[in-house]
Amino acid sequence: MELYDAIYNRRIVRDFKDKKVPDEVLERIINAGLQAPTHDHLRNWEFVILQENGDKEKALQFISNGVKPQLEILKQILVNGTAQQRMYADAMPKQYSMLYNASHIILPFFKTNSGVMHPSSVSSLNPLSSIWCVIENIFLAATAENLACSMRIPVGDEGLNVAKVVGAPEDYLLPCYIGLGYPADDKVVVEQVRYTAKQKMHFGKW
Ligand SMILES: Cc1cc2nc3c(=O)[nH]c(=O)nc-3n(C[C@H](O)[C@H](O)[C@H](O)COP(=O)(O)O)c2cc1C
Repeated sequence: MELYDAIYNRRIVRDFKDKKVPDEVLERIINAGLQAPTHDHLRNWEFVILQENGDKEKALQFISNGVKPQLEILKQILVNGTAQQRMYADAMPKQYSMLYNASHIILPFFKTNSGVMHPSSVSSLNPLSSIWCVIENIFLAATAENLACSMRIPVGDEGLNVAKVVGAPEDYLLPCYIGLGYPADDKVVVEQVRYTAKQKMHFGKW
């Protein structure tokens, strides 16, 4: 697939087929992640891959604590509203299933420093910024393989708890969970908020 096709076709998918992604495809996708730019030249990133149901259950056990209060609030405000509200209405109840039902869960860890949690400037966040370049490469490579990804940002202590369960060193943080798999034929396609470059470019001055 051409790069621009992958960019335009990439979507977050939350409904997957019950079908395993082959090991060599997974490896190509992780290798694509590892080509991302890195703030410290060191590519201090590690990936925990989960495919057994028992391992997935252990890692996902903390999700409900974050989702339950979110769901209660959302139930009250999400009726038939904006595209953003419709996205949340589809996404929130699937926070567990969109990872559990994916062929693989990829947990991308980055080596952190004291600055990330208590930033004094934007550059303190460089380790976090770098891992997001990795994550986008993974999304695009998955799209190029005719696969798709779900993603969830851990809430509260969720990420630290997952890190403990999978045995990550204390100086490595989890920015998100990624579910990787074959999109279901009847996957929900959420309407997008889209802009063109012309609407967003400011030449010379904002
Ligand atoms: C920083 C960030 C955090 C996100 N957090 C979540 C999340 O916790 N759960 C989820 O289901 N989707 C999450 N998403 C996915 C967005 O909902 C999705 O990207 C957005 O609706 C646009 O849809 P698209 O990616 O298909 O274009 C997140 C995306 C980003 C970039």
